[in-house]
Amino acid sequence: MVPRPIIIDCDPGVDDAVMLMMALASPALDVRAITTVAGNVPLNLTSRNARMMCQIMDRTDIPVFAGCPRPILREPVTAEHFHGDSGIAGLDPFEPDAPLAAGHAVQHLIDTLRAARPGQYTIVVTGPLTNIATAIIMAPDIARGIDRLVIMGGADTEGGNITPFAEFNIFADPHAAAIVFDSAIPCTVLSLDVTHQVRAEPERLTLLRALPGPRAAIMVQLLEAANVLEARWKEGRMTPMHDPATIAWLLAPGLFESHQATVSVDTAPGDRFGQTRVALSEPGPHEWVTMADADGFFALIERLVNNT
Ligand code: RIB
Ligand code: CA
Repeated sequence: MVPRPIIIDCDPGVDDAVMLMMALASPALDVRAITTVAGNVPLNLTSRNARMMCQIMDRTDIPVFAGCPRPILREPVTAEHFHGDSGIAGLDPFEPDAPLAAGHAVQHLIDTLRAARPGQYTIVVTGPLTNIATAIIMAPDIARGIDRLVIMGGADTEGGNITPFAEFNIFADPHAAAIVFDSAIPCTVLSLDVTHQVRAEPERLTLLRALPGPRAAIMVQLLEAANVLEARWKEGRMTPMHDPATIAWLLAPGLFESHQATVSVDTAPGDRFGQTRVALSEPGPHEWVTMADADGFFALIERLVNNT
């Protein structure tokens, strides 16, 4: 089996860190680059944290490019209350050995996708969509090199997590999200509607903690820290596996159910600012994921980190 070429655009972020551990542990994925964006914490920290995870996973061969330091239009928002001031709650931050790759993430996306074969790359997006939208505006022709965008973002029936209607990644840059969803590039969207079905429940962490090897222990540290922060804000609920859902979908799509749809974003000022609107449509440019098999999801994670 030829590993699938992917580029990961993220804002680590505790759940981004868990997602990166899964992606970098999988022989089925060929992570060609990581691009970072301002989101959960400022860009300097998301960029450091991404490089930390590459070092922890012994993958310092993967270039990490820093991208946009702020949203396209709205004032910046961050989420330290869910990720810690470091953005990597649960781990002791350190300065990674490998420096940032030279050049802006958006330019790297454009150069890579222009040189790609048609549909060669899958782009995983787990932060605000600022980098992706900027690349599309600067070079619309890059769509040719993209198989699909696999995006963690949005909410429909579940309601929002940063306002009653908006999910953080979309709320943090709704204009960027609108550009991406309007671009006609195929998107698979894993929203709160599905990520809230898969949470780091104590019994699941007990099974992970029992696995041999340092990586399972590191993942448990991250998830336990995320649970402490989540419980402070969300009535004692355990942390949802938001960003890890993108990699789980890529590796085991049979664990999920989805519907064709057309997704749009409310960018008008007001209480619906950043809300995703989902019109189920056959056919539609977007795949809206609605269900996940949580047991299968965690069994996949256990396989990825077992004895590593
Ligand atoms: O709403 C959850 C999303 O916002 C996740 O990507 C999390 O990392 C934060 O960025
Ligand atoms: Ca994220």
